[in-house]
Amino acid sequence: MADLTIEGIGQIKPSSIKGDVWLTCIECGKTYPPFDFVIYRCQKCGGLLEVRYENLPTFEDFSGSGVWRYKASLPFEMGVSIKEGNTPLYTVPRIESDVGVEALRIKHEGMNPTGSFKDRGMTVGVRVVQELGVKRLACASTGNTSASLAAYGSRAGLEVIVLLPAGKVAMGKVAQASLHGAKILQLDGNFDECLDIVTKLADEGEVYLLNSVNPFRLEGQKTIGFEILEQSLEEVGRYPDRIILPVGNAGNTAALYKGFRELVASGALKVKDVPKITAIQAEGAAPIVEAIKSSASHVQRWPSVETKATAIRIGNPVNAPKALPAIRGTGGTAVTVSDEEILAAQCELAEEGIGVEPASAASVAGLRKLRSEGVVGKEEYVVCLATGILLKDPDAASFAREAPKEIPASVEDVMQAILN
Ligand code: F0G
Repeated sequence: MADLTIEGIGQIKPSSIKGDVWLTCIECGKTYPPFDFVIYRCQKCGGLLEVRYENLPTFEDFSGSGVWRYKASLPFEMGVSIKEGNTPLYTVPRIESDVGVEALRIKHEGMNPTGSFKDRGMTVGVRVVQELGVKRLACASTGNTSASLAAYGSRAGLEVIVLLPAGKVAMGKVAQASLHGAKILQLDGNFDECLDIVTKLADEGEVYLLNSVNPFRLEGQKTIGFEILEQSLEEVGRYPDRIILPVGNAGNTAALYKGFRELVASGALKVKDVPKITAIQAEGAAPIVEAIKSSASHVQRWPSVETKATAIRIGNPVNAPKALPAIRGTGGTAVTVSDEEILAAQCELAEEGIGVEPASAASVAGLRKLRSEGVVGKEEYVVCLATGILLKDPDAASFAREAPKEIPASVEDVMQAILN
Protein backbone atom coordinates (compact mmCIF):
# COMPACT_ATOMS: atom_id res chain seq x y z
CA MET A 1 0.00 0.00 0.00
CA ALA A 2 1.32 3.42 -0.92
CA ASP A 3 2.43 5.60 1.94
CA LEU A 4 3.33 8.80 0.16
CA THR A 5 4.14 11.74 2.39
CA ILE A 6 4.23 15.36 1.33
CA GLU A 7 5.51 16.43 4.72
CA GLY A 8 7.92 19.32 4.27
CA ILE A 9 7.25 19.79 0.57
CA GLY A 10 4.56 22.38 1.14
CA GLN A 11 6.61 23.88 3.96
CA ILE A 12 6.18 27.54 4.86
CA LYS A 13 9.23 29.58 3.93
CA PRO A 14 11.72 29.86 6.83
CA SER A 15 12.11 33.47 8.04
CA SER A 16 15.89 33.37 7.39
CA ILE A 17 15.36 32.85 3.64
CA LYS A 18 15.16 35.90 1.35
CA GLY A 19 13.98 34.53 -2.01
CA ASP A 20 11.36 31.89 -2.67
CA VAL A 21 13.81 28.97 -3.00
CA TRP A 22 15.87 27.27 -0.31
CA LEU A 23 17.54 23.98 0.64
CA THR A 24 16.27 21.67 3.36
CA CYS A 25 18.03 18.66 4.90
CA ILE A 26 15.82 15.61 4.42
CA GLU A 27 17.10 14.12 7.70
CA CYS A 28 17.05 16.94 10.26
CA GLY A 29 15.10 19.67 8.46
CA LYS A 30 17.81 22.34 8.76
CA THR A 31 17.42 24.94 6.02
CA TYR A 32 19.99 26.83 3.97
CA PRO A 33 19.95 29.70 1.47
CA PRO A 34 20.40 28.19 -2.01
CA PHE A 35 23.18 30.25 -3.58
CA ASP A 36 25.05 32.11 -0.81
CA PHE A 37 27.70 29.40 -0.55
CA VAL A 38 28.50 25.97 -1.99
CA ILE A 39 26.82 23.17 -0.06
CA TYR A 40 26.05 19.57 -1.02
CA ARG A 41 25.00 18.03 2.29
CA CYS A 42 23.64 19.24 5.62
CA GLN A 43 26.39 20.84 7.69
CA LYS A 44 24.72 19.65 10.89
CA CYS A 45 23.98 15.97 10.19
CA GLY A 46 25.41 15.18 6.74
CA GLY A 47 21.95 14.40 5.33
CA LEU A 48 20.98 14.90 1.69
CA LEU A 49 19.52 18.26 0.75
CA GLU A 50 16.34 18.95 -1.18
CA VAL A 51 15.38 22.13 -3.05
CA ARG A 52 12.20 23.65 -1.62
CA TYR A 53 9.95 26.38 -2.99
CA GLU A 54 7.48 28.83 -1.55
CA ASN A 55 5.20 28.34 -4.57
CA LEU A 56 4.39 24.88 -5.85
CA PRO A 57 3.26 24.33 -9.43
CA THR A 58 0.03 23.08 -10.93
CA PHE A 59 -0.26 21.91 -14.54
CA GLU A 60 -1.69 25.30 -15.57
CA ASP A 61 1.65 26.89 -14.66
CA PHE A 62 3.49 24.88 -17.31
CA SER A 63 4.04 26.39 -20.76
CA GLY A 64 6.59 26.09 -23.55
CA SER A 65 8.61 23.01 -24.42
CA GLY A 66 11.34 20.85 -22.87
CA VAL A 67 12.75 21.07 -19.35
CA TRP A 68 12.10 24.82 -19.13
CA ARG A 69 8.40 24.30 -19.79
CA TYR A 70 8.46 23.44 -16.08
CA LYS A 71 10.21 26.61 -14.92
CA ALA A 72 7.41 27.22 -12.41
CA SER A 73 8.82 24.21 -10.56
CA LEU A 74 12.50 25.12 -10.99
CA PRO A 75 14.80 27.61 -9.26
CA PHE A 76 15.28 29.71 -12.44
CA GLU A 77 13.33 31.00 -15.42
CA MET A 78 15.94 29.59 -17.82
CA GLY A 79 19.18 27.60 -17.63
CA VAL A 80 22.21 26.82 -19.75
CA SER A 81 20.11 25.11 -22.40
CA ILE A 82 20.77 22.91 -25.44
CA LYS A 83 17.04 22.24 -25.81
CA GLU A 84 16.84 19.27 -23.47
CA GLY A 85 13.66 17.40 -22.56
CA ASN A 86 10.49 16.96 -24.60
CA THR A 87 11.52 13.38 -25.36
CA PRO A 88 9.15 10.97 -27.12
CA LEU A 89 6.88 8.44 -25.48
CA TYR A 90 7.03 5.50 -27.90
CA THR A 91 4.53 2.71 -28.39
CA VAL A 92 5.97 -0.82 -28.56
CA PRO A 93 2.97 -2.89 -29.67
CA ARG A 94 4.79 -6.23 -29.89
CA ILE A 95 6.41 -6.03 -26.46
CA GLU A 96 3.17 -4.68 -25.02
CA SER A 97 1.13 -7.64 -26.20
CA ASP A 98 3.86 -10.19 -25.50
CA VAL A 99 4.37 -9.00 -21.92
CA GLY A 100 0.62 -8.69 -21.53
CA VAL A 101 -0.18 -5.29 -20.06
CA GLU A 102 -2.99 -2.97 -21.05
CA ALA A 103 -0.60 -0.31 -22.30
CA LEU A 104 3.17 0.04 -22.46
CA ARG A 105 5.14 3.10 -23.48
CA ILE A 106 8.88 3.75 -23.62
CA LYS A 107 9.99 7.19 -22.50
CA HIS A 108 13.17 7.55 -24.55
CA GLU A 109 15.48 9.84 -22.63
CA GLY A 110 18.21 8.88 -25.07
CA MET A 111 16.65 11.49 -27.37
CA ASN A 112 18.15 14.31 -25.29
CA PRO A 113 20.99 16.48 -26.72
CA THR A 114 23.85 14.30 -25.43
CA GLY A 115 21.81 11.11 -25.58
CA SER A 116 20.75 10.61 -21.97
CA PHE A 117 18.49 12.01 -19.23
CA LYS A 118 21.51 13.65 -17.58
CA ASP A 119 20.97 16.73 -19.75
CA ARG A 120 17.83 17.58 -17.81
CA GLY A 121 19.86 17.82 -14.64
CA MET A 122 22.79 19.64 -16.18
CA THR A 123 20.74 22.47 -17.68
CA VAL A 124 19.75 23.37 -14.11
CA GLY A 125 23.00 22.35 -12.38
CA VAL A 126 25.25 24.40 -14.64
CA ARG A 127 22.93 27.39 -14.24
CA VAL A 128 23.47 27.17 -10.47
CA VAL A 129 27.21 27.26 -11.10
CA GLN A 130 26.79 30.63 -12.79
CA GLU A 131 24.95 31.84 -9.69
CA LEU A 132 27.72 30.64 -7.38
CA GLY A 133 30.51 31.97 -9.59
CA VAL A 134 32.63 28.80 -9.56
CA LYS A 135 34.77 27.98 -12.57
CA ARG A 136 35.86 24.33 -12.33
CA LEU A 137 33.20 21.64 -12.54
CA ALA A 138 33.66 17.96 -11.91
CA CYS A 139 31.89 14.63 -11.65
CA ALA A 140 32.56 10.95 -11.26
CA SER A 141 30.75 8.99 -13.90
CA THR A 142 29.88 5.68 -15.46
CA GLY A 143 29.87 7.76 -18.66
CA ASN A 144 26.66 9.63 -19.34
CA THR A 145 27.06 12.23 -16.62
CA SER A 146 30.54 13.00 -17.92
CA ALA A 147 29.30 13.43 -21.51
CA SER A 148 26.51 15.70 -20.37
CA LEU A 149 28.60 17.77 -17.98
CA ALA A 150 31.27 18.17 -20.67
CA ALA A 151 28.70 19.55 -23.12
CA TYR A 152 26.87 21.86 -20.71
CA GLY A 153 30.02 23.01 -18.92
CA SER A 154 31.68 23.83 -22.25
CA ARG A 155 28.64 25.70 -23.42
CA ALA A 156 28.87 27.83 -20.28
CA GLY A 157 32.60 28.37 -20.90
CA LEU A 158 33.71 26.49 -17.78
CA GLU A 159 36.46 23.98 -17.04
CA VAL A 160 35.22 20.38 -16.73
CA ILE A 161 37.05 17.48 -15.06
CA VAL A 162 35.59 13.97 -15.20
CA LEU A 163 36.70 10.92 -13.21
CA LEU A 164 35.90 7.61 -14.87
CA PRO A 165 36.48 3.98 -13.83
CA ALA A 166 39.19 2.90 -16.31
CA GLY A 167 38.05 0.31 -18.83
CA LYS A 168 34.46 0.34 -17.58
CA VAL A 169 32.93 3.19 -19.54
CA ALA A 170 31.31 2.69 -22.95
CA MET A 171 33.32 4.11 -25.83
CA GLY A 172 30.68 6.55 -27.11
CA LYS A 173 30.51 8.31 -23.75
CA VAL A 174 34.28 8.77 -23.42
CA ALA A 175 34.32 10.11 -26.99
CA GLN A 176 31.63 12.65 -26.13
CA ALA A 177 33.35 13.88 -22.97
CA SER A 178 36.57 14.19 -24.94
CA LEU A 179 35.14 16.07 -27.91
CA HIS A 180 33.20 18.47 -25.69
CA GLY A 181 36.54 19.34 -24.12
CA ALA A 182 36.54 17.80 -20.64
CA LYS A 183 39.75 16.73 -18.94
CA ILE A 184 39.24 12.96 -18.63
CA LEU A 185 40.92 11.12 -15.77
CA GLN A 186 40.55 7.34 -15.87
CA LEU A 187 41.03 5.88 -12.40
CA ASP A 188 42.12 2.44 -11.42
CA GLY A 189 38.97 1.95 -9.34
CA ASN A 190 35.21 1.58 -9.70
CA PHE A 191 32.61 4.36 -9.99
CA ASP A 192 32.02 4.49 -6.23
CA GLU A 193 35.73 5.06 -5.62
CA CYS A 194 35.77 7.81 -8.27
CA LEU A 195 32.83 9.44 -6.49
CA ASP A 196 34.57 9.19 -3.10
CA ILE A 197 37.58 11.04 -4.54
CA VAL A 198 35.73 13.76 -6.42
CA THR A 199 33.52 14.34 -3.35
CA LYS A 200 36.65 14.90 -1.27
CA LEU A 201 37.98 17.40 -3.83
CA ALA A 202 34.60 19.16 -3.82
CA ASP A 203 34.54 19.31 -0.02
CA GLU A 204 37.99 20.91 -0.15
CA GLY A 205 36.65 23.54 -2.58
CA GLU A 206 38.82 22.43 -5.53
CA VAL A 207 35.90 21.60 -7.83
CA TYR A 208 32.13 22.09 -7.97
CA LEU A 209 30.43 18.70 -7.86
CA LEU A 210 27.73 17.90 -10.38
CA ASN A 211 26.93 14.34 -9.46
CA SER A 212 23.36 13.64 -8.43
CA VAL A 213 24.11 14.25 -4.74
CA ASN A 214 23.78 17.84 -5.96
CA PRO A 215 20.10 18.59 -5.28
CA PHE A 216 19.76 21.03 -8.19
CA ARG A 217 20.45 18.31 -10.72
CA LEU A 218 17.50 16.35 -9.45
CA GLU A 219 15.26 19.38 -9.98
CA GLY A 220 15.91 19.16 -13.71
CA GLN A 221 15.46 15.40 -13.72
CA LYS A 222 12.08 15.54 -11.98
CA THR A 223 10.69 17.03 -15.20
CA ILE A 224 10.82 13.51 -16.71
CA GLY A 225 7.89 12.70 -14.42
CA PHE A 226 5.96 15.84 -15.35
CA GLU A 227 6.41 15.09 -19.03
CA ILE A 228 5.32 11.48 -18.59
CA LEU A 229 2.12 12.62 -16.87
CA GLU A 230 1.27 15.25 -19.47
CA GLN A 231 2.11 13.04 -22.47
CA SER A 232 0.25 10.09 -20.98
CA LEU A 233 -2.92 12.07 -20.53
CA GLU A 234 -2.70 13.33 -24.07
CA GLU A 235 -1.53 10.16 -25.84
CA VAL A 236 -2.90 7.33 -23.69
CA GLY A 237 -5.80 9.07 -22.01
CA ARG A 238 -4.69 8.41 -18.46
CA TYR A 239 -1.76 8.55 -16.06
CA PRO A 240 0.52 5.51 -15.85
CA ASP A 241 -0.01 3.06 -13.04
CA ARG A 242 3.70 2.46 -12.89
CA ILE A 243 7.04 3.87 -14.02
CA ILE A 244 9.85 1.33 -14.28
CA LEU A 245 13.42 2.58 -14.41
CA PRO A 246 17.01 1.36 -14.31
CA VAL A 247 18.73 2.41 -11.11
CA GLY A 248 22.34 3.18 -10.32
CA ASN A 249 22.95 6.15 -8.05
CA ALA A 250 19.16 6.44 -7.66
CA GLY A 251 18.98 10.09 -8.70
CA ASN A 252 16.07 9.59 -11.08
CA THR A 253 14.16 7.52 -8.56
CA ALA A 254 14.51 10.35 -6.05
CA ALA A 255 13.74 13.03 -8.64
CA LEU A 256 10.52 11.44 -9.91
CA TYR A 257 9.21 11.16 -6.35
CA LYS A 258 10.11 14.75 -5.56
CA GLY A 259 8.22 16.01 -8.60
CA PHE A 260 5.14 13.93 -7.89
CA ARG A 261 5.03 15.01 -4.24
CA GLU A 262 5.18 18.66 -5.33
CA LEU A 263 2.18 18.13 -7.61
CA VAL A 264 0.34 16.34 -4.80
CA ALA A 265 1.17 19.14 -2.36
CA SER A 266 -0.11 21.80 -4.78
CA GLY A 267 -3.32 19.82 -5.30
CA ALA A 268 -2.56 19.18 -9.01
CA LEU A 269 -2.22 15.41 -8.60
CA LYS A 270 -4.14 12.96 -6.43
CA VAL A 271 -2.13 10.50 -4.34
CA LYS A 272 -3.94 7.63 -6.06
CA ASP A 273 -2.69 8.91 -9.43
CA VAL A 274 1.00 8.87 -8.47
CA PRO A 275 2.68 6.11 -10.53
CA LYS A 276 4.34 3.28 -8.63
CA ILE A 277 8.06 3.91 -8.89
CA THR A 278 9.66 0.57 -9.70
CA ALA A 279 13.45 0.21 -9.60
CA ILE A 280 15.46 -2.27 -11.63
CA GLN A 281 19.08 -3.12 -10.94
CA ALA A 282 21.52 -5.55 -12.51
CA GLU A 283 22.11 -8.71 -10.46
CA GLY A 284 25.76 -7.80 -9.99
CA ALA A 285 25.05 -4.27 -8.67
CA ALA A 286 21.86 -4.30 -6.63
CA PRO A 287 22.16 -2.63 -3.21
CA ILE A 288 18.80 -0.85 -3.57
CA VAL A 289 16.98 -4.07 -4.40
CA GLU A 290 18.66 -5.73 -1.42
CA ALA A 291 17.44 -2.97 0.90
CA ILE A 292 13.88 -3.06 -0.46
CA LYS A 293 13.66 -6.86 -0.27
CA SER A 294 14.96 -6.95 3.29
CA SER A 295 12.90 -3.91 4.41
CA ALA A 296 16.14 -2.30 5.57
CA SER A 297 16.20 1.36 6.56
CA HIS A 298 19.58 1.91 4.91
CA VAL A 299 21.40 0.62 1.87
CA GLN A 300 24.62 -1.36 2.42
CA ARG A 301 27.47 -0.49 0.07
CA TRP A 302 28.50 -3.31 -2.29
CA PRO A 303 32.30 -3.08 -2.48
CA SER A 304 32.54 -4.97 -5.74
CA VAL A 305 30.03 -4.74 -8.56
CA GLU A 306 29.82 -6.15 -12.07
CA THR A 307 27.39 -5.92 -14.99
CA LYS A 308 27.50 -5.45 -18.74
CA ALA A 309 25.12 -2.53 -18.18
CA THR A 310 28.11 -0.37 -17.22
CA ALA A 311 26.00 2.76 -16.69
CA ILE A 312 24.45 1.19 -13.59
CA ARG A 313 27.55 -0.56 -12.28
CA ILE A 314 27.22 1.17 -8.92
CA GLY A 315 27.50 -0.26 -5.41
CA ASN A 316 26.95 2.78 -3.21
CA PRO A 317 23.88 4.69 -4.44
CA VAL A 318 24.29 8.14 -3.00
CA ASN A 319 20.59 9.01 -3.30
CA ALA A 320 19.38 5.92 -1.47
CA PRO A 321 17.92 7.91 1.48
CA LYS A 322 15.65 9.66 -1.04
CA ALA A 323 15.06 6.63 -3.26
CA LEU A 324 13.91 4.09 -0.67
CA PRO A 325 10.97 6.32 0.39
CA ALA A 326 10.21 6.91 -3.32
CA ILE A 327 9.80 3.20 -3.98
CA ARG A 328 7.97 2.47 -0.72
CA GLY A 329 5.91 5.66 -0.69
CA THR A 330 4.42 5.04 -4.13
CA GLY A 331 3.77 1.34 -3.58
CA GLY A 332 6.47 0.41 -6.07
CA THR A 333 9.03 -2.33 -5.79
CA ALA A 334 12.58 -3.24 -6.83
CA VAL A 335 13.98 -6.31 -8.60
CA THR A 336 17.16 -7.48 -10.22
CA VAL A 337 17.61 -8.71 -13.75
CA SER A 338 20.50 -10.69 -15.22
CA ASP A 339 22.80 -9.35 -17.92
CA GLU A 340 21.27 -11.91 -20.31
CA GLU A 341 17.78 -10.54 -19.60
CA ILE A 342 19.03 -6.98 -20.10
CA LEU A 343 20.65 -7.78 -23.45
CA ALA A 344 17.56 -9.69 -24.62
CA ALA A 345 15.39 -6.68 -23.78
CA GLN A 346 17.81 -4.42 -25.64
CA CYS A 347 17.32 -6.59 -28.75
CA GLU A 348 13.54 -6.61 -28.30
CA LEU A 349 13.44 -2.82 -28.17
CA ALA A 350 15.74 -2.62 -31.18
CA GLU A 351 13.30 -4.83 -33.10
CA GLU A 352 10.65 -2.18 -32.53
CA GLY A 353 13.05 0.45 -33.87
CA ILE A 354 14.09 1.80 -30.49
CA GLY A 355 17.84 1.84 -29.93
CA VAL A 356 18.95 2.00 -26.31
CA GLU A 357 22.11 1.27 -24.38
CA PRO A 358 22.14 -1.85 -22.17
CA ALA A 359 21.33 -0.14 -18.84
CA SER A 360 18.22 1.40 -20.40
CA ALA A 361 16.88 -1.99 -21.40
CA ALA A 362 16.92 -3.09 -17.76
CA SER A 363 13.53 -1.40 -17.32
CA VAL A 364 11.89 -3.60 -19.97
CA ALA A 365 13.69 -6.70 -18.65
CA GLY A 366 12.36 -5.82 -15.20
CA LEU A 367 8.83 -5.36 -16.51
CA ARG A 368 8.94 -8.83 -18.05
CA LYS A 369 10.08 -10.37 -14.81
CA LEU A 370 7.54 -8.52 -12.64
CA ARG A 371 4.71 -9.33 -15.04
CA SER A 372 5.60 -13.02 -15.08
CA GLU A 373 5.66 -13.00 -11.27
CA GLY A 374 2.24 -11.35 -11.23
CA VAL A 375 3.55 -8.24 -9.45
CA VAL A 376 2.60 -6.11 -12.46
CA GLY A 377 -1.04 -6.73 -13.36
CA LYS A 378 -2.40 -7.17 -16.89
CA GLU A 379 -4.67 -4.15 -16.43
CA GLU A 380 -1.72 -1.80 -15.86
CA TYR A 381 -0.49 1.04 -18.03
CA VAL A 382 3.29 0.98 -17.62
CA VAL A 383 5.95 3.45 -18.71
CA CYS A 384 9.49 2.08 -18.97
CA LEU A 385 12.25 4.63 -18.87
CA ALA A 386 14.96 4.24 -21.50
CA THR A 387 17.76 6.33 -20.09
CA GLY A 388 20.39 6.41 -22.85
CA ILE A 389 20.68 5.91 -26.60
CA LEU A 390 22.20 2.88 -28.38
CA LEU A 391 25.12 4.84 -29.86
CA LYS A 392 26.54 5.41 -26.39
CA ASP A 393 27.77 1.84 -26.31
CA PRO A 394 28.60 0.71 -29.85
CA ASP A 395 30.51 -2.34 -28.60
CA ALA A 396 27.53 -3.73 -26.71
CA ALA A 397 25.29 -3.03 -29.69
CA SER A 398 27.52 -4.69 -32.26
CA PHE A 399 28.16 -7.80 -30.18
CA ALA A 400 24.48 -8.30 -29.41
CA ARG A 401 23.77 -9.97 -32.77
CA GLU A 402 25.48 -12.06 -35.40
CA ALA A 403 28.77 -10.50 -36.63
CA PRO A 404 28.65 -8.92 -40.12
CA LYS A 405 29.68 -11.37 -42.85
CA GLU A 406 32.69 -10.67 -45.06
CA ILE A 407 32.20 -11.90 -48.60
CA PRO A 408 33.68 -11.29 -52.06
CA ALA A 409 32.28 -8.32 -54.01
CA SER A 410 30.14 -10.19 -56.55
CA VAL A 411 26.40 -10.42 -57.23
CA GLU A 412 26.52 -14.23 -56.87
CA ASP A 413 28.28 -14.16 -53.52
CA VAL A 414 25.94 -11.47 -52.19
CA MET A 415 22.90 -13.45 -53.33
CA GLN A 416 24.22 -16.65 -51.82
CA ALA A 417 24.90 -14.88 -48.52
CA ILE A 418 21.37 -13.44 -48.49
CA LEU A 419 19.89 -16.93 -48.92
CA ASN A 420 22.14 -18.60 -46.34
N1 F0G B 1 20.74 4.61 -17.06
C1 F0G B 1 21.80 5.22 -17.59
C2 F0G B 1 21.98 5.13 -19.08
C3 F0G B 1 22.71 5.92 -16.77
O1 F0G B 1 23.76 6.51 -17.32
C4 F0G B 1 22.50 5.94 -15.38
C5 F0G B 1 23.43 6.63 -14.49
C6 F0G B 1 21.37 5.30 -14.88
C7 F0G B 1 20.51 4.66 -15.74
C8 F0G B 1 21.05 5.30 -13.44
O2 F0G B 1 20.51 6.50 -13.04
O3 F0G B 1 21.96 7.08 -11.14
O4 F0G B 1 19.75 8.19 -11.47
O5 F0G B 1 19.89 5.80 -10.76
N2 F0G B 1 24.55 7.04 -14.85
C9 F0G B 1 25.45 7.84 -14.02
C10 F0G B 1 26.60 8.36 -14.86
C11 F0G B 1 25.84 7.23 -12.75
O6 F0G B 1 27.67 8.62 -14.31
O7 F0G B 1 26.40 8.58 -16.04
P1 F0G B 1 20.52 6.93 -11.50
